[in-house]
Amino acid sequence: MPLQFVGTIESLGSEVAGLSIGDRVMSPFTASCGACFYCSKGLTCRCSHPEAQLFGWIQEPAPGEPGSSRPRGLHGGQAQYVRVPLASSTLVKVPDDVSDEEALLLGDILSTAFFCAERGGVAEGDTVAVVGLGPVGLLAVLAARHLGAARVFAVDGVPGRRAQAAKFGAEPLAPEDAAAAAAAATGGRGADVVLEAVGAGGALALAFDLVRPAGVVSSVGVHTAAGWPFTPVDAYNKNATLRFGRCPARAYMERVLPIVQSKKWPFADIITHRMSLREGVRAYDMFERRKEGVIKVVLDPWR
Ligand SMILES: NC(=O)c1ccc[n+]([C@@H]2O[C@H](COP(=O)([O-])OP(=O)(O)OC[C@H]3O[C@@H](n4cnc5c(N)ncnc54)[C@H](O)[C@@H]3O)[C@@H](O)[C@H]2O)c1
Ligand SMILES: [Zn+2]
Repeated sequence: MPLQFVGTIESLGSEVAGLSIGDRVMSPFTASCGACFYCSKGLTCRCSHPEAQLFGWIQEPAPGEPGSSRPRGLHGGQAQYVRVPLASSTLVKVPDDVSDEEALLLGDILSTAFFCAERGGVAEGDTVAVVGLGPVGLLAVLAARHLGAARVFAVDGVPGRRAQAAKFGAEPLAPEDAAAAAAAATGGRGADVVLEAVGAGGALALAFDLVRPAGVVSSVGVHTAAGWPFTPVDAYNKNATLRFGRCPARAYMERVLPIVQSKKWPFADIITHRMSLREGVRAYDMFERRKEGVIKVVLDPWR
C-alpha cells in the first residue's frame, strides 16, 4: 500500500497557496482540507471534504450503488509523479535538517506509533505491552518509552523483530509467554496500557488478555474481521477502555517533527532496505514473508 511519500513539487494547481515549485514536501497518507469540523479538531484522517481520501486506495463503487459511478480514493505515491488534492492543507514543507527518509516516516508509521501510544494514555512509570513488532509496533516501543513507560513488553512471534525491540529498550516476549510475564511483572494485574499494532483478531485477543482491569487497549491495527475476539461481558468485567482508528497523520506529523529533528531516535534501524520501484514486486514479497530481516522498505521511483 503506497501510502507514505515524499517528493518535490513539479507543478501547482491554480488554488494552491503557500507552496512553490521546487519545494521538498512530505505527505500524510490521507488528504485533508484543514477547515472542516474534523480537521479543526485535529482529526484530519476523518476530514469530510469529498477529495480527502486515502492515498493508494482506489475503491470501485459497488454494483447498483447510488450516486457517482466514479471510483473513490487517490492513487498512491509509488510513481514518479502523484497528484495531491487539497495540497495547501495536505502537504508539509520538509525542513532542511530532516532527511527524505525521516519525512517518509512522519507521513505515516511514526505518526501512527505516536498516536497509538498517546491514545493509550501512556504515562510516567507505566507498564506497557506492544503487540506486533512490525515497523509500527517497533516505533510504538520508542513512543511508549518517550512518554515515560517504565517497562515495555514487546510481543511478536518473529525472533529478529523481538531482538530489534530489545535494542530499543523493551523486554521481548513470544506471544505465548506474554500474559504470564505481564502478570508476573505487575502483581498479577497485567499491563496498564497495551498497544496493538497487528490488525488480526488473535492479536486483539492477546491485547485484551494482557491489559489490567481499568487499563487501556489502544489499537491501530487495520482490522478486517466482522466480529470481536472478546465479548461485551468481558469488556464490562475488565472496566476496559478500548481505542481504535486511523492516525490523523497530517496533525501528528508536525507534532512529532521536533522529535525527528532532535536526531535522538534510532530511525535508521527501521528502514532496512532501499530498493528501486522496478524491484517493487520483490520488495512486497520480502515484506510479506519477512525475508532478509526486512522491517521497512523504501522504494525509489527515480533509481
Ligand atoms: N491506524 C493507522 O492509521 C495505521 C497506520 C499505519 C499502519 N496501520 C496498521 O498497523 C498494523 C501494523 O503495521 P506494520 O506495517 O507494522 O505491519 P507488519 O505486518 O509489518 O507487522 C505486524 C507484526 O505483527 C506480528 N504479529 C502477527 N500476529 C501477532 C500476534 N498474534 N501477536 C503478536 N504479534 C503478531 C507479525 O509477526 C509482524 O511482525 C497493520 O495492521 C497496518 O495496516 C495502521
Ligand atoms: Zn477537513
